[in-house]
Amino acid sequence: MAGCGSWVFFLTVCSASLFGASADIKVTIPVGRFFTHELLRETFQNDFEPLGKVYGILYNDPIIFKCNKQNFPDLPEWLRFTQRNPFDNGFLYGTPMSPGKSIIEIYATNQRSYDTVRHLLIIKVVPEKILPYQVEVFIKLREIEKVLPSTVQDEIKQDLQKLWDRNPLEMINITNALDRGGRVPLPLAGHFEGVYVKVGSKEYFSECLLRVLTLENKNQCKEEAKIKVPGECHFCINPSNCITWCKTELFDLTKMKPKPPAPTMGSGILEAGEDFRPLESPPSRDYFPDYIVTVIVPLILAIILFLLLAYIMFGRREGVAKRNARSNQIQLYHHYTIHENTDELRTMAGSRGVPPPLSTLPMFNSRTGDRASPLQSDSIPLIMAQQDPYSDTLPRK
Ligand SMILES: *[C@@H]1O[C@H](CO)[C@@H](O)[C@H](O)[C@H]1NC(C)=O
Repeated sequence: MAGCGSWVFFLTVCSASLFGASADIKVTIPVGRFFTHELLRETFQNDFEPLGKVYGILYNDPIIFKCNKQNFPDLPEWLRFTQRNPFDNGFLYGTPMSPGKSIIEIYATNQRSYDTVRHLLIIKVVPEKILPYQVEVFIKLREIEKVLPSTVQDEIKQDLQKLWDRNPLEMINITNALDRGGRVPLPLAGHFEGVYVKVGSKEYFSECLLRVLTLENKNQCKEEAKIKVPGECHFCINPSNCITWCKTELFDLTKMKPKPPAPTMGSGILEAGEDFRPLESPPSRDYFPDYIVTVIVPLILAIILFLLLAYIMFGRREGVAKRNARSNQIQLYHHYTIHENTDELRTMAGSRGVPPPLSTLPMFNSRTGDRASPLQSDSIPLIMAQQDPYSDTLPRK
């Protein structure tokens, strides 16, 4: 196992020295100047297929990038990354505002083979004087990825240089208008996201630029935002690079108030002081009124209701007794009348001389009118239902 591990290690070192040595890119940039680093797909394609050239196979794979500061999940605050689609180059760009060193990890993933390579970009930011006069312009017909290539940056810089009396300029910032509250354009030809470009110079603003500050210009722009660049200040050769005049802003950093000093940081440990005194416990509360309201009052109500019910049920006994006495009388009356009626019937029955109806006599046959003597009754079958009930006189064939 140990041998295997060392082999893997050896191979890693080998491949690292073969392809990885060139992967570390070191750049030194000044504070307050715009920085761009283009991630060329071609370079990464070579890393994925190092022998491709030898065999004459050329791939054009979709490649996506993921960039972060080493040992951190994201990029430094000042650095931004953009790549429009996997067949375009990516860009790292931004303006560092304080000196220091950042190590950026760039992971490229080949979306065909899912191979991944890592490059390191070591950015050293060195102190530099901030340019006191800065101008920000808006270029409507551009997108950030189209402006970031250095050739386009130079074109734009040249145009602005003419606007600024041919003074040397430095690029300070390029921002996607979408990052500044711009709207996503319609997916149609002639609609662009727009970019803000900020340049700076040691020299004071030109006549042309100072027009931006005039009251007349401000009023005109307020009324209608589509004011053309004044004729003598119109320098853009490529129509894509033309600025929107009314969105031009001047910054005179010499007139800016110095920033209030940053709050001094403590050591993070509280100074030793007096002993900790816990808060006093809150005053004790009197629960007696609550007790009366929640327990005593319902109890009294319950007792009153109980007494009231008890009075209704038992207290009016007089009435109950009276009713009982009357019902006793009624019962007695009934008893006597039944008694009298029985006696009356008995006397009536005793005095009758008519023979009782035949049907009341035993063994009387209603069909023949025979009267069998009780002595003969043994010869008569008890069950006559042996015959057909519908022709009881005729025996069955
Ligand atoms: C550059 O533009 C970005 C985005 O608008 C902003 O956050 C950043 O502060 C700007 N940097 C400078 C130096 O102006």
